[in-house]
Amino acid sequence: MSDTKSDLRPLDDADLGVVLGWRNHPRVRESSFTTHAIGWAEHRAWWAAVRLDPAREVLVYRHDGVASGVVAFEHVRPGHAEWGFYLDVEGVEERGQTLAAWLGIERAAIAHAFDARGAAVLEGHVLADNHAVLSLHRRFGFTEVERYTRAVDGAPRQVVRVRLAKPSTKESA
Ligand SMILES: CC(C)(COP(=O)(O)OP(=O)(O)OC[C@H]1O[C@@H](n2cnc3c(N)ncnc32)[C@H](O)[C@@H]1OP(=O)(O)O)[C@@H](O)C(=O)NCCC(=O)NCCS
Repeated sequence: MSDTKSDLRPLDDADLGVVLGWRNHPRVRESSFTTHAIGWAEHRAWWAAVRLDPAREVLVYRHDGVASGVVAFEHVRPGHAEWGFYLDVEGVEERGQTLAAWLGIERAAIAHAFDARGAAVLEGHVLADNHAVLSLHRRFGFTEVERYTRAVDGAPRQVVRVRLAKPSTKESA
C-alpha cells in the first residue's frame, strides 16, 4: 500500500462530468430527495448556484488518493452546517473499498465541518428506509432529532434529521 491519503478537496469544473455520473447512479438516486436522472443543463445550473452561495460548499472525497465521492454542505452559518454525500458506487465496489470509503467520507466530512468550517453542530437528512446510512451516522455519534414527511417525486416519504455536536475539548485537570 503506497498512498493511503484520504481527504476532501474543492469540486472544480473538471470534476463535473464524473460527478454527474456518480449522482445519477441508481443507488444514489434512490437515496436522494430528487430521484430523476440529472441532465447536463440542470447539473451546470446546480454548480453555478453552488459557487455563488457562501452557505454551500461541495467537495470531492479522495479515498487512498482516488476521487471517490462528493460531500455537499449546505445551510452553513456560524456554528451550524448540514451535509449530504454520495460515493462513486461502482468505483468503490470495483476497488473493494465500499465500507472503507463510507467510513472515510463520514470521518472526513465531520472533521471538515468542525475543524475547517468551525461548526458546533452538524446535521443531516436521510430517508428513513436508508438503514445503512442511518446506522453509519449512529456509528459516528449522530442522534435522531426529528422525523418528518417530505414529498419525493410527489410521494410522501419519511425523513430522519440527525445531529452531531462537536465534542467538547477535554480540559486537563
Ligand atoms: C444523496 C444525497 C446527498 C442527495 O441529496 P438531495 O437533496 O436529493 O440532493 P442534493 O442535495 O444532492 O441536491 C439538492 C438539489 O440540487 C439539485 N441538483 C442538480 N444537479 C445536481 C447535482 N449534480 N448534484 C446534486 N444536486 C443536484 C437537485 O435536483 C436538488 O434540487 P431541488 O432542491 O430543486 O430538489 C442525500 O440524500 C444524502 O446525503 N443521503 C444520505 C447519504 C446517502 O444515502 N448517499 C447515497 C449513498 S452512496
